Amino acid sequence: MEKFLDLISGEMARGFEAAGYDGTLGRVTVSNRPDLCEYQCNGAMAGAKRYHKAPVVIAGEVAEKLADSAVFSEAAAVAPGFLNLKVKESFVRDYLAQMSGAEKFGLEAPEKKKTIVVDYGGPNVAKPLHVGHLRSAVIGESIKRICRYKGHHVIGDVHLGDWGLQMGLIITELKKRQPGLPYFDPDFAGEYPADAPFTVSELEEIYPTASAKSKEDPAYKQEALEATLRLQSGDRGYRALWKHIIDVSVADLKKNYGRLNVEFDLWKGESDADPLIPGMVAELKASGLAYESQGALVVDVKEDTDTKEMPPCIILKSDGAALYATTDLATIKDRMENLHADELIYLADKRQEMHFVQVFRVARKAGLVKPETELKYVGFGTMNGKDGKPFKTREGGVMRLEYLIRDIDEEMYRKVAESRHDLPEEEARQVARVIGLSAIKYGDLSNQAAKDYIFDIDRFTSFEGDTGPYILYTIVRIKSILAKYQEQGGSLEGLTFAEPSGSSEKDLMRQLCGFTAMMDSACEETAPHRVCAYIYDLSNAFNKFYHETKILTEEDPAKKEGWIALLWLTRRVLEDCIGVLGFSAPDRM
Ligand code: ARG
Repeated sequence: MEKFLDLISGEMARGFEAAGYDGTLGRVTVSNRPDLCEYQCNGAMAGAKRYHKAPVVIAGEVAEKLADSAVFSEAAAVAPGFLNLKVKESFVRDYLAQMSGAEKFGLEAPEKKKTIVVDYGGPNVAKPLHVGHLRSAVIGESIKRICRYKGHHVIGDVHLGDWGLQMGLIITELKKRQPGLPYFDPDFAGEYPADAPFTVSELEEIYPTASAKSKEDPAYKQEALEATLRLQSGDRGYRALWKHIIDVSVADLKKNYGRLNVEFDLWKGESDADPLIPGMVAELKASGLAYESQGALVVDVKEDTDTKEMPPCIILKSDGAALYATTDLATIKDRMENLHADELIYLADKRQEMHFVQVFRVARKAGLVKPETELKYVGFGTMNGKDGKPFKTREGGVMRLEYLIRDIDEEMYRKVAESRHDLPEEEARQVARVIGLSAIKYGDLSNQAAKDYIFDIDRFTSFEGDTGPYILYTIVRIKSILAKYQEQGGSLEGLTFAEPSGSSEKDLMRQLCGFTAMMDSACEETAPHRVCAYIYDLSNAFNKFYHETKILTEEDPAKKEGWIALLWLTRRVLEDCIGVLGFSAPDRM
């Protein structure tokens, strides 16, 4: 379905052409003076120079040609040459009727369906998820869903940090604690035990302990480095132990991500790229791109237009070890060869920007990707506490994601229990979890990803203002009216839209008309905050209309049905939007 603004711009273009001007001047935008008009066109201003005429004269001529337009009820030329516009009630009604019956409300499938890999989450095995991982998961999940909603083939990959020194550290510490395990016996030829010799909580204690020891004790660190190398060179026992670490950790990660409504299609990790590294390195050397510098193998990535310093990308350290960039490059190779990706989107802290610039440049220079492959890095800012510093626990430690979610759930439960004494405890807890998730996700997603933001539990859990719970409250309100309408014997099928009879109703309708344009730009710009801004405006428009209108007691059946049609569409649009943001609405709250 054609986008609403494109449609009315088409009508405006016809006006310009009929008056003897270039139709491309007829671009219509939403009015920046809603007190004066609904839409505006500044084409006459742009055409003045070209046609050697005063803009207001051109605007006047165009307005005249639009006097009997089927689209505009008002097209007024105003000084110094703007066209102030209002659309016809019937036109808005017909557009909504079409939207309501169309799949995805008329959002067009992409011209070219792309295979997109979204690399997000990026947790490190054996380390508990902390708040720093929240943004990657929440934003990445939403970008994945937005691109999928648009109609692309999207694959989400968690890209576990499962291959570096942290693995060697854990293995070293385990060896100290349980030296008798068969994994450490080089002569062991039997089957290794099926169960891991540790639980997830033990694992979470082992890693920080080992990490602290390695910082104080160089010999310990050396052992860990050796263990890492031994693991990476394929030692059978170390591999078996490593597999246990991954399995125990992944089971726990799945539980935590599940709680956040975050689902990955692939649970691949840095280790999966390892077998591809030698071949890739050989190619880089053969092509002459990679050369030795101070013992290391590097690729130059500097470009003339760079304004910041751009050091060469290190492919192998002087001891031959692969680095973060190496696994990322090999992973690109994998994604191109095995997933046939047209686009790769990466979510990572914005402090990793340089890393991604380097990796993308090497990938292009080395031909690991096609010239037309899109490589996007979505760098996100820091989640801060109310003091403006990175979010911490009250004691000043790193906040585990689990505890953050628990705190929000508690706060939400308190609110729900307070306002809804009638809900059974079980349901109140369930509802609190659903609303809590909206509070966390909307609080994050409503900011532009690259900006730092303040995680403010009080504000995020409020039922008023620009928050997740406010959006859910609006949906629940609509659900309840629709349910009552059905109880009265009404049906939600085959509803007929009516022309708006008041300004708040028309505003709501016009807000709905902008859905497809909003979703397209959210997808193109990988920008979930656009969806948030849209549903906030839509909810405000709905609530204003709702407060001015007695819907269920309306006597005129056509009017009432028109309103119900409008509510039904509003609800479905809101629900699809929160769906792509990665949360849902309860039935009551
Ligand atoms: N594991 C990394 C970290 O904790 C993030 C991974 C981001 N993705 C990537 N392909 N480099 O910082």
